[in-house]
Amino acid sequence: MIITLKSVDSTNSYALQNFDALEDKTLIVALSQTQGRGRHGRKWFSPPGLNFYGSYILKNDNLHIPSMSRFASLSVLETLKNFSPESEFKIKWPNDIYAKNRNCEFHKISGILSEMRILPNSNKYDGCVIGIGVNLNMTDEIQKIHAPATSIKLLTARNTDIANFAEMLLKNLNKFSTYAPELLFKLCRNEDILIGKNITIISEDASSFSGLVKDYSIDGAIIISDKKGNLKSFYSGNIIKSIL
Ligand code: BTN
Repeated sequence: MIITLKSVDSTNSYALQNFDALEDKTLIVALSQTQGRGRHGRKWFSPPGLNFYGSYILKNDNLHIPSMSRFASLSVLETLKNFSPESEFKIKWPNDIYAKNRNCEFHKISGILSEMRILPNSNKYDGCVIGIGVNLNMTDEIQKIHAPATSIKLLTARNTDIANFAEMLLKNLNKFSTYAPELLFKLCRNEDILIGKNITIISEDASSFSGLVKDYSIDGAIIISDKKGNLKSFYSGNIIKSIL
């Protein structure tokens, strides 16, 4: 089911606040967000009527947490491929989608923010809210984002109907959310943009580590090799340098 709101602070906040009243596998879509949230406390630029801002609700107290971003990434990827078959799309760990046209560089087109719903007065969860932002029809406004970004409109010169995009995305979310963790891991690895690239990762404590991306682990880590061949795993962090 899709619930469309004209404006909301954040679809993730709305989904978490109304979690009990909402059905499993509902997609909350907002045409505008006044306080769109990104990872690491960043803001998500949410100009009215131009892009897709949505949150998918999963009610389940036994989720494989690393699979949340994985099934959402694959759903966004498949939907984007449908709306822009002429472009190339890749997953960038941990939960971004990058896009490019031939002879261009990859730029971010989508970000995902998964948040567990923690039961009041407990340390247990009973579900997850998966927030998805996709740049659809932004053109000039994109310059307000302080990192290279793109949109379907910039890739194809076509406008995308937000309701059509939401419908197809929901179909894909319903499909990929049933896939087993091992299959999601394999599919995401096939669509990955970082394996074999030299990157720098900045951790929460501001320390940095540079090296070659070797692989991922099923439990969510990125595995990086330093110059001496020592392997290090990171479960979160910001990839700041990478030639994509
Ligand atoms: C990121 O790349 O930092 C993740 C961005 C997630 C943005 C989406 S937009 C819909 C949902 N509501 C929010 O407030 N954030 C997510």
